[in-house]
Amino acid sequence: MREETYSPGLAGVIAGETNIACVAQGNLLYRGYTIQDLADKVCFEEVTHLLLFEELPNAAQLSSIKKTLASYRPLPGALIAALRTIPTSVPMMDVLRSMVSYAGHFDPVDGNDEAANRQRALWLTAQIGAIIAARYRLLNDKEPLAPKEGLGHAAQILYQCHGEAPDALSEELIDLTLVLYAEHDFNASTFTGRVICSTLSDMVSGVTGAIGALKGPLHGGANEAAMEMLQRFSTAEEASIWITQALKNKEKVMGFGHRVYKNGDHRAVILEEKLRKLAEQKGEYTWMAIYDAIKKPMTEEKKIYPNVDYPCGLTYFLMDLPLDLYTPLFVASRVTGWTAHIIEQRRNNRIYRPLSIYTGPKERPVPALDER
Ligand code: CMC
Repeated sequence: MREETYSPGLAGVIAGETNIACVAQGNLLYRGYTIQDLADKVCFEEVTHLLLFEELPNAAQLSSIKKTLASYRPLPGALIAALRTIPTSVPMMDVLRSMVSYAGHFDPVDGNDEAANRQRALWLTAQIGAIIAARYRLLNDKEPLAPKEGLGHAAQILYQCHGEAPDALSEELIDLTLVLYAEHDFNASTFTGRVICSTLSDMVSGVTGAIGALKGPLHGGANEAAMEMLQRFSTAEEASIWITQALKNKEKVMGFGHRVYKNGDHRAVILEEKLRKLAEQKGEYTWMAIYDAIKKPMTEEKKIYPNVDYPCGLTYFLMDLPLDLYTPLFVASRVTGWTAHIIEQRRNNRIYRPLSIYTGPKERPVPALDER
């Protein structure tokens, strides 16, 4: 008989095989390429091709994937009409979850084989960027914008939000965050998508569920939560006083820690370098001092290191992006990883169905209604 083991949070449990990404000696690799190499050399569309088609694109393939994304970007009129009916108080992640599900009713792709699902993945990637931007425009009393020809995916999202193409630095930074966020093996949201699709449910259902999982502050919601934390302070001294007390109280500090990385998240190191340059360029020394005031005791005393969400929150903030967009931008990227996993899951599927340890009452008879 197989021995049954219990691991809270499935920590240390191997729940499947993947050839999409791994963390090897603390280094994240997408299909064998290190995240540093990818961050230095490729754009988000190239990563999208790598995740969905298993290899980096050549020039013709890159041009083709860009064209495909462009063709899938326009939103159905009915979806924009539905967006208008959602109260302005509803958080962007909730809107995105509902609208991705709604977009599923207009899925232009037929079939469920791998080729169809790759197309569906590209369609979802294109639609998600456009949905975020359309909601952003409506919240700002502006009409959603049609995409502008010739822009890369990252620049397109910013263009459709603001009505003007971003400057080179903003485009580079958003593109970098999309590259860094795209994939991370069996994280909670990807696992959610895999579990949903292991029942042979559809890709849109898997992605909708994954968005719900990513929203939480222990996962993708941490980029917003980390920035909310930094915003509580106006000086580094205030941040130092708070973090000393928070550590004593064993409080969770958002943007730090990771289930897989115990000696630091390489994505955070890559992004922090760019963040420092951005802050320098903008003369935002106080924000960096607050950032460092939290980071120093976390890393030096607690030995808990920043994850990618810590520098990402402040990067987006210094780019003047509203907080409500941070986690949706994570979705705009991770949809590529999710869909690659859903395709992989279907290839060699077995339904996920773990066991539990029952801790409820012992067997007992049902009492009659008047005896309860
Ligand atoms: N602040 C304070 N203490 C922490 C933190 C933190 N951010 N992270 C871990 N710890 C403590 C934890 O309380 C535990 O202490 P003790 O042994 O005294 O109970 C110890 O460190 C070990 O924790 P762990 O087992 O490594 O944590 P985990 O694997 O169960 O959880 C985590 C991982 C990411 C949920 C957790 O580190 C956390 O809640 N971090 C804050 C939220 C966050 O930044 N999430 C983003 C994750 S990475 C990117 C993404 O997915 O979006």
